[in-house]
Amino acid sequence: MEVKSIATELSKYLSKYRLKHSVFVMHTAKELASIYNVCKRKAELSGLLHDCGKYLKDCAMIEKAKELDLKITSLQYYEPDLLHGPVGAIIAKDKYPELDQDMYNSIYYHTTGRPGMSDLEKIIYVADLIEPTRRYPEVEELRGYVGIELNLLTLKVMDKVLLSLIRNGKYIDPTTIKARNKLYYEYYSKE
Ligand SMILES: [Fe+2]
Ligand SMILES: [Fe+2]
Repeated sequence: MEVKSIATELSKYLSKYRLKHSVFVMHTAKELASIYNVCKRKAELSGLLHDCGKYLKDCAMIEKAKELDLKITSLQYYEPDLLHGPVGAIIAKDKYPELDQDMYNSIYYHTTGRPGMSDLEKIIYVADLIEPTRRYPEVEELRGYVGIELNLLTLKVMDKVLLSLIRNGKYIDPTTIKARNKLYYEYYSKE
């Protein structure tokens, strides 16, 4: 399970854009791992693999999720792209059985987050949204927060995601609300 061979494999089915993004998430996750004392190897491999399910679209994503016996929510039927984390985690585990549970979870939940995220899950979630090729109005502000407490950093990034979903008139996966409340509680109850 090496970076180079995984990247070569991903290049066979991910778009150039998606592969480049994945490589930048890998680098960003590794940097965050060294700041927040998380295993750098797990962070870089999970970062590289996080979007491996992203090559499927719409009906093909639903079909794949059914084939993999995933329980599909009504929101995921409406927004099949929400399945690329769960589908990707299963595909990655199938190809690389040495992927541990924490890495699997960090791929599975990278789009929505979830309540009780591990430090690795938080790092992959954040890296996905602040990697250097990401362009949106608040991204520089978020990059500037790197180094603050990890729960607070994740909370700040998640808040921007939620605000942008609202601004763009999109659905919000309830798992993200639960994840946000848990992070909020974990951070502020320590103060
Ligand atoms: Fe993704
Ligand atoms: Fe991504």
